[in-house]
Amino acid sequence: MGPRYMYMNAIFSLVISVALLPSPAVSVAKCSFPAIFNFGDSNSDTGGLSAAFGQAPPPNGETYFRSPAGRFSDGRLLLDFIAESLGLPYLSAYLDSVGSNFSHGANFATAGSTIRPQNTTISQSGVSPISLDMQFVQFSDFCRRSQIFKKQGGVFEKLLPEADYFSAALYTFDIGQNDLTAGYKLNMTTEQVKAYVPDVLSQLSNIIKRVYGQGGKSFWIHNTGPVGCLPYVLDRFPVTAAQVNKFGCASPFNEVAQYFNHRLKEAVVQLRKELPKAAITYVDIYSVKYTLITQGHNYGFERPIIACCGHGGKYNYNRYAKCGAKKTINGKEIVIANSCKDPTVRINWDGTHFTEAANRWIFEQIANGSFSDPPIPLKIAYHRMDH
Ligand SMILES: *[C@@H]1O[C@H](CO)[C@@H](O)[C@H](O)[C@H]1NC(C)=O
Ligand SMILES: *[C@@H]1O[C@H](CO)[C@@H](O)[C@H](O)[C@H]1NC(C)=O
Ligand SMILES: *[C@@H]1O[C@H](CO)[C@@H](O)[C@H](O)[C@H]1NC(C)=O
Ligand SMILES: *[C@@H]1O[C@H](CO)[C@@H](O)[C@H](O)[C@H]1NC(C)=O
Repeated sequence: MGPRYMYMNAIFSLVISVALLPSPAVSVAKCSFPAIFNFGDSNSDTGGLSAAFGQAPPPNGETYFRSPAGRFSDGRLLLDFIAESLGLPYLSAYLDSVGSNFSHGANFATAGSTIRPQNTTISQSGVSPISLDMQFVQFSDFCRRSQIFKKQGGVFEKLLPEADYFSAALYTFDIGQNDLTAGYKLNMTTEQVKAYVPDVLSQLSNIIKRVYGQGGKSFWIHNTGPVGCLPYVLDRFPVTAAQVNKFGCASPFNEVAQYFNHRLKEAVVQLRKELPKAAITYVDIYSVKYTLITQGHNYGFERPIIACCGHGGKYNYNRYAKCGAKKTINGKEIVIANSCKDPTVRINWDGTHFTEAANRWIFEQIANGSFSDPPIPLKIAYHRMDH
């Protein structure tokens, strides 16, 4: 059976099962998502942290936007490719008061966000104070106030979503990576980090239930990536040679990420039971990113664990001189952490985030549902499939 045939077959049986379902999550007549509401960290931040705490500096944005665009990447993020493929505009950050247009959704993600609120400040640890619970508060406020202003008409009419978009929208989540590193920053052991993972996930489940309570029905949840293959982790948390695998990734951190993902998948199964009208898709981003990092040479990529934009060291990453960092030499400001020559053949952008080329590749892998549970394409992720 060729992959094409299997794909058609999957669609066919999906149509059958939808037809047989007593209560599909969303009426079958509806054929596309009118909006996206996103919750997350820097993997999907399209300008939130930049609006609140200062713009991501150049060369961020250089490849696609030609100047900084609130994203920690040379160009578009996975979320941008998702929006584009659904025929929707790129999402404006909720916190961005300049030039934003929320007619087809809003983005509550900020770089450095965690699921659980942390007890450190952004200047102490780089953790964003806009944790998932705050993102939900902002979303909830947006739901209510957007409709008050939309009714006033004028320019607001064209900047805010329709009331019925909230129940028809795609709700995307990509968060958790910083909850894992937060423990290591506090010098916790891997066992200690694992011990708090259930609490982190119960807080995530709680927020998903509250979004459902506000009318959300279609959820698209990314699991967390192989954080042990990222320069900022490799540089910050040294491990023994025996803990580094043949691809240069630090195994303990990848194991913690996989543990988180295993528990996340269980949490999703539980949520499906508790939320009868929700269509919840779990997307295995870990496997896609791991394949890209370890097999990327087969797809035209080079130097998988070396940052493209950075300043020296084993991984071209220096936490005191991150991508775009400047130094004053003889009274003249110069950028000391610049982009590599060709980001289109690189995977890692700045030690923490992915390049636009990598994000596009990741998007292409996940769009048809082959890394999803249930395995349905993004475009129709509003169908609940009973397991
Ligand atoms: C922050 O401190 C409070 C009060 O001590 C505690 O309940 C909470 O678990 C802490 N949060 C984290 C992420 O450690
Ligand atoms: C906001 O975006 C929508 C969709 O792209 C567009 O139709 C609308 O005109 C925009 N609003 C304004 C005020 O530009
Ligand atoms: C973690 O350990 C390092 C090295 O011993 C120490 O410098 C640092 O202050 C510790 N951090 C915390 C949050 O305890
Ligand atoms: C999904 O897309 C990827 C990337 O284009 C492709 O390799 C894979 O075979 C597709 N899977 C299915 C089931 O169509």
